[in-house]
Amino acid sequence: MVGAGSWGLAVIAKRQSSFVRRQSRPPRVTTDEGRLTLPNDLELPTMIRLDRILSSRGYSTRSQAKGFVRHHDILFDGKKVERVDDKVDPALVTIDGEPLDPESLFILMNKPVGYVCSHREQGDLIYSLLPERWTYRNPQVATVGRLDKDTSGLLLLTDDGQLLHRLTSPKHHVPRVYLATLDRALRGDEAKIFQSGALMLEDEEKPLLPAEMEVLAETQARLTLHEGRYHQVRRMFAAVGNHVTALHREKFGIIALDDLQPGQYRLLEKPG
Ligand code: URA
Repeated sequence: MVGAGSWGLAVIAKRQSSFVRRQSRPPRVTTDEGRLTLPNDLELPTMIRLDRILSSRGYSTRSQAKGFVRHHDILFDGKKVERVDDKVDPALVTIDGEPLDPESLFILMNKPVGYVCSHREQGDLIYSLLPERWTYRNPQVATVGRLDKDTSGLLLLTDDGQLLHRLTSPKHHVPRVYLATLDRALRGDEAKIFQSGALMLEDEEKPLLPAEMEVLAETQARLTLHEGRYHQVRRMFAAVGNHVTALHREKFGIIALDDLQPGQYRLLEKPG
């Protein structure tokens, strides 16, 4: 029931190697009886003004682009770029020896407890764990749904509005897997209640979709939800007379945290 396309998990290292490949490959143009023929799969470069690229990817505002160019070593296809109105192919640009950040971001983070999924609230914000320039990108990077301040684990972020919609739309039922630690011992009837499709939470108009629960210990359970309502796991256990003392998201769709440590993130390839 993933329903959100295929979930490629290639990391940024893969993007960088394809960048290097593109950079070093000569243009694939063949001659055919004196005429130049472009192969069908030749990617024509997209030439965009440097200041536009710098501002949309958060490196500088358009008005600060001149200063940014002065203070950084910007190369296009190995040659120095001095003017902000030069048109360049972003795939062949390096800044201080590093390839440009991708045009669109899809980020996997292991959210630590204590961080808030918000751009504006007080306290430690999850965005402070990312490179600062990513907070200035246009369109803005946002979380795919939210985790509570006290919840840890798998959090996705993107600046792609369509992808965000696809992953959070109630129509797609993307499964989310949580590990819940509880205050009191499980009673034994929770899995049946959660699976029933009839559990109604306070202030809601529709019952919850059936959810699967696996008992791991007297006070620990793994829960798979197919929707993402406000404080859903905590409210579900409250509805059966318990209290969640720790909550960790392990998976979203087929994406898992693997070896990411709390506070770490990596770029993913977007699902097709
Ligand atoms: N359910 C909750 O109660 N909190 C979260 O952060 C996520 C799911």
